[in-house]
Amino acid sequence: MTVQVVIGSGDQELVTALSAQFAELTGIEVIGVETTSAEVLGVVNAEQDFDVVLVDDEIGPLSAHELVREIGMRRPHGAAVLLSAKVDEDLLTRALEAGAKGVLARQPSLEELRARVVAAAEWSRGMRRRLGTAMADDFPDGRRGRMVAVCGAKGGTGATTVAVQLALAVAAHKSVCLVDMDLQTGDIPSYLDLVHRRSIADLVGVATEITGTVLGDALFIHESGPHVLLAPAEGERAEDVTALAARQILGALRARYEVVIVDCGAFMTEGSMTAVEYADRVIMTVTPDLPALRAAKRMAQLWARLKARKEEEIYVLLTRLGRRSEIQPDFAARILNLPLTKTTIPSSFRALEKAINNGTLARVEDDGYRRAIAALGIEVGVLPVDTGGEVRAGRRAKVDT
Ligand SMILES: Nc1ncnc2c1ncn2[C@@H]1O[C@H](COP(=O)(O)OP(=O)(O)O)[C@@H](O)[C@H]1O
Ligand SMILES: [Mg+2]
Repeated sequence: MTVQVVIGSGDQELVTALSAQFAELTGIEVIGVETTSAEVLGVVNAEQDFDVVLVDDEIGPLSAHELVREIGMRRPHGAAVLLSAKVDEDLLTRALEAGAKGVLARQPSLEELRARVVAAAEWSRGMRRRLGTAMADDFPDGRRGRMVAVCGAKGGTGATTVAVQLALAVAAHKSVCLVDMDLQTGDIPSYLDLVHRRSIADLVGVATEITGTVLGDALFIHESGPHVLLAPAEGERAEDVTALAARQILGALRARYEVVIVDCGAFMTEGSMTAVEYADRVIMTVTPDLPALRAAKRMAQLWARLKARKEEEIYVLLTRLGRRSEIQPDFAARILNLPLTKTTIPSSFRALEKAINNGTLARVEDDGYRRAIAALGIEVGVLPVDTGGEVRAGRRAKVDT
């Protein structure tokens, strides 16, 4: 099959030189030349078929890295390769962090160009295949814990805080595993003040035969109850967690825990997409501001396009809500046209800051906040309905000590 390439560059000379090289390569075809980041995203949004986008480091108005990130967000199987005048370790690291599938010198040799583009295309097709199979199959039968995926409409909307708090609240009642599926930027260790070398990446190689012992080695057991499966310490290992591996790992966890809570972050990977697809409930955290609401809409549309989750099966959770926030739930619901949870999470900056800095997130000293988390747990079906009373009891016990 022919590899289809889009070139994203405003540099006419570069485009001419590359096109001449591609003309010499069989099996690779340039199907479009876009001169700005906006035009590249136009192609990405148009659902036009392509395998690889070559992104010129000097493209604008979005920076090349931002563009690579956007391509990954909108088209999880779109492979972007960055073209740069200077290819060094720093550039490579930053490119991989943005989600690029490779970097190339601006004047590559014919062989380099071929090898890089073919490798990126193979990744893209593999990803598409896996996304395809992930949708067709189902978890193996048997006992199944309830799985809740928490995603951020964008970074900083409180997804991790909600996932961690929910896991801590549930741990008082049920066995719970908290999974950091924010594979590139997962930061659960800093929220729970824990250090652990093992991560989900260690389960990938054995995903088909996960035993209790294997899990025990990989998981961190938090003193407050939840077991925690961390994201890999090295962001580039995020790719190891394919849709298939994620499905197997989450399936194994659901067979062993009553509740599995997955922090998916705001940047979709095969792993987080799989969690979104298979979760019993998907919560998308949104702060009361227009950029976050727009990001939420975009994310919901992306999931719908990829057939991971229908819009009506997503629950938007307003977080960091203040009484004086201009955007209140009714307004958010109208703009988003997506279901909202009945619960909202109040803004509780001081209490959270204190708890995080003291490494005691299990004890947030803000009743309103704790009640909201309990209400959310009840609403998404992971906490028993009478939990409200225990939140108050928990506080009394603390005051006594
Ligand atoms: N309800 C809240 N009120 C005030 N600050 C919050 C609230 N929830 C989260 N935060 C703060 O916002 C920042 C981002 O939260 P985090 O959970 O890491 O977001 P995300 O995982 O979506 O990137 C953190 O500093 C956190 O303490
Ligand atoms: Mg987070």
